[in-house]
Amino acid sequence: METISVSKLFICLSMALLVGNQLIQCSVTYDKKAIIINGQRRILISGSIHYPRSTPEMWEDLISKAKNGGLDVIDTYVFWNVHEPSPGNYNFEGRYDLVRFIKTVQKLGLYVHLRIGPYVCAEWNFGGFPVWLKFVPGISFRTDNGPFKAAMHRFTEKIVQMMKSENLFESQGGPIILSQIENEFGLEKNALGAAGDAYVKWAAKMAVGLNTGVPWVMCKEDDAPDPVINACNGFYCDGFTPNKPYKPTLWTEAWSGWFTEFGGTIPQRPVQDLAFAVARFIEKGGSYFNYYMYHGGTNFGRTAGGPFITTSYDYDAPLDEYGLIREPKYGHLKELHRAIKLCERALVSSDSTVTRLGTFQEARVFSSANGNCAAFLSNFDSNSAKRVMFNNMHYDLPPWSTSILPDCRNVVFNTAKVGTQTSRMQMLPTNSELLSWEIYDEDVSSLEDSSAMTAVGLLEQINVTRDSSDYLWYKTRVDISSSESFLRGGQWPTLTVQSRGHIVHVFINGKLSGSAYGTRENSGFTYTVPVDLRAGANRIALLSIAVGLPNIGLHFETWKTGILGPVVLDGLGQGKRDLSWQKWSYKVGLKGETLNLDSPNGASSVEWIQGSLVDHRQRPLTWYKSYFNAPQGNEPLALDMRSMGKGQVWINGQSIGRYWMVYAKGNCGACSYSGTYRAPKCQLGCGEPTQRWYHVPRSWLKPTHNLLVVLEELGGDASKISLVKRRATTVCANAYEHHPTTENWSTESSGKSKMHHQAKLHLQCAPGQSISEIEFASFGTPQGTCGSFQKGTCHAPNSHAILEKMCVGRESCEIPISNSNFGADPCPKVLKQLSVEASCSPTAT
Ligand code: GAL
Repeated sequence: METISVSKLFICLSMALLVGNQLIQCSVTYDKKAIIINGQRRILISGSIHYPRSTPEMWEDLISKAKNGGLDVIDTYVFWNVHEPSPGNYNFEGRYDLVRFIKTVQKLGLYVHLRIGPYVCAEWNFGGFPVWLKFVPGISFRTDNGPFKAAMHRFTEKIVQMMKSENLFESQGGPIILSQIENEFGLEKNALGAAGDAYVKWAAKMAVGLNTGVPWVMCKEDDAPDPVINACNGFYCDGFTPNKPYKPTLWTEAWSGWFTEFGGTIPQRPVQDLAFAVARFIEKGGSYFNYYMYHGGTNFGRTAGGPFITTSYDYDAPLDEYGLIREPKYGHLKELHRAIKLCERALVSSDSTVTRLGTFQEARVFSSANGNCAAFLSNFDSNSAKRVMFNNMHYDLPPWSTSILPDCRNVVFNTAKVGTQTSRMQMLPTNSELLSWEIYDEDVSSLEDSSAMTAVGLLEQINVTRDSSDYLWYKTRVDISSSESFLRGGQWPTLTVQSRGHIVHVFINGKLSGSAYGTRENSGFTYTVPVDLRAGANRIALLSIAVGLPNIGLHFETWKTGILGPVVLDGLGQGKRDLSWQKWSYKVGLKGETLNLDSPNGASSVEWIQGSLVDHRQRPLTWYKSYFNAPQGNEPLALDMRSMGKGQVWINGQSIGRYWMVYAKGNCGACSYSGTYRAPKCQLGCGEPTQRWYHVPRSWLKPTHNLLVVLEELGGDASKISLVKRRATTVCANAYEHHPTTENWSTESSGKSKMHHQAKLHLQCAPGQSISEIEFASFGTPQGTCGSFQKGTCHAPNSHAILEKMCVGRESCEIPISNSNFGADPCPKVLKQLSVEASCSPTAT
């Protein structure tokens, strides 16, 4: 008998309420061991997929892949700023169709954790808050502030009501089993003191009062008031305990990788370490974990947070930005999930007993009254493998790893031994040509604009733009006397601009003199540039650019952006001339934006110049337009923007996001999975543009005549932009004889897990593709890794022929790893492995 009754009853009673005229059933509760759904304690495996970061056409495929990868729950934030672009005007269409997303999860039989926030952080513009909220009189975000609480209450209630009216809470028969209020408020609370305390209490009470019938969660908030469950976020959460003994141990963000910023490298998290972190969490009694992210996706449009978060939100997640399976991450985690599920009954029935097996080694054993037994053997030593003795048997544990034994005897999975295939993704050319380019000039020289607003002094950028555009022009005049000596061959004067961020382009008399930008950590900067002034009147135009508004930090709503000065001219006869307090004129956005040049209608409203008639000098602030036909097939598509500088791209009027070919600075040295992981540990892409490819969702294309519009700020060669397709061209696998995987196991009706069968190697191409060639195959003692396999001293000569026969022409194949399959034992008494590298190509139809 499981002992769930007392606390369950308490929480249940507090939730069985009459809402409207509907009795909310108490079907999701919790106790100290787990979330309880319909009376059953569950080990729940979850993954974050944020609906606006992909298209509705991709959702079903992403969620099916998540289900296939062993997930029970899909977690998403709710993104307030896309749903309420102006006060009281709501948008739940297209990518913002939250109900459709949740119903897709429901259709596929998974649960939902709805993280309403409404503060979400998430590397999302302004942390998910609408920018208009900042301008509500008297407002102060995320504290005990009347206007803020009123707005937060209204939006949270709006979402809860919407879910209720669609019957989406589990208590109504829907998929939502958990909801989150706030996000990592603990980070702010200390700084806010009593107001922070009052706010957390208010937020919990407000949320619980909405009577959803399912538990509420606060992550990284140790003081989450009852009955709200406090949860952990991090790279590891095995040290976490909830704030009350009757709450379950939840890990709402197991970071599968990390986000990317323009100018930075691409963080990677080795799957062996991620799997080890998860195993450690489970063996310490955790019962719910969520990969943040399972599919990261794309920050389309201007949704990226900031500053400087890239358009790609790939996150090194198990499903890559394009929704393709990333191996070996996906497959290895799938194996881990199977292993954990084989232990589920034992895990939810007992607390573990711990036995030390060595200085850095331990065993944790879970057993239930009806005879289920599961053991986790861990080696925390990051340098050495260790042979340990457990229940009178020997077990070999690689460094920094856990072995899972669902019957307390046989190892079904070790976090450091990756048996699943790896795949190599490539961006390949498509047959689709971008037709001739046409050009439209922003025409910086005619900056005089009667509609421009003027002010004495320098204005804060977001106060002026209200974030309706990234761009704000700051323009002023300077008169230069003809007696200045620099006019007769002396050194040019310099202009020094102090900006609070994020980027500035300096134009003097219509010509770009230079650009500068800050960093994510410190978005402000001082920029000094020599300026080519002439005698008489000169036009100084500073284009200040926001690259995503901050999404984290104490009262980020008060942070300033733009050129706040001083702006100083130096090197004149008089010395320094401070321009900060003279008359400036302001213009929000670019002319092309006002003309909606990105949209099919807007684009046809102006005269474009044939690209071929224009000289190929790099031209700052230029709009480019071209048409293309959709490439055949269904592989995901991207634009290769390598030849360009910085700007934005639209396809058929939809923004695919900001692009920027800024080069990645970092340290791309060797990276071992072993040892404590932090985001800078494993980096890729040093010296390359941080983001070269930009996802073009298939569903945004028509068969022919697709409009592509590019706004380039700095100058680039648009003729070299190309459309590419992404696919796994190579798959590799490596597996040992006598090494069964979770597939060789089954759970009997009694709940006990049993092993049968024998080791196999699996190769799998993506749907619609098949194995076209075996590049390498060796059963014996091959060396190396995918892309560099080599035969070892022991090699079965027919390896290649056997693999060819069993795999070529098929989408997937399974090879038993046994001597008999290869005719004879190529080297008796030696532990053998099979390593294979194969090519995948689209299946001929
Ligand atoms: C967490 C936060 C998430 C996300 C993540 C980093 O602290 O809760 O929303 O920002 O960091 O990707």
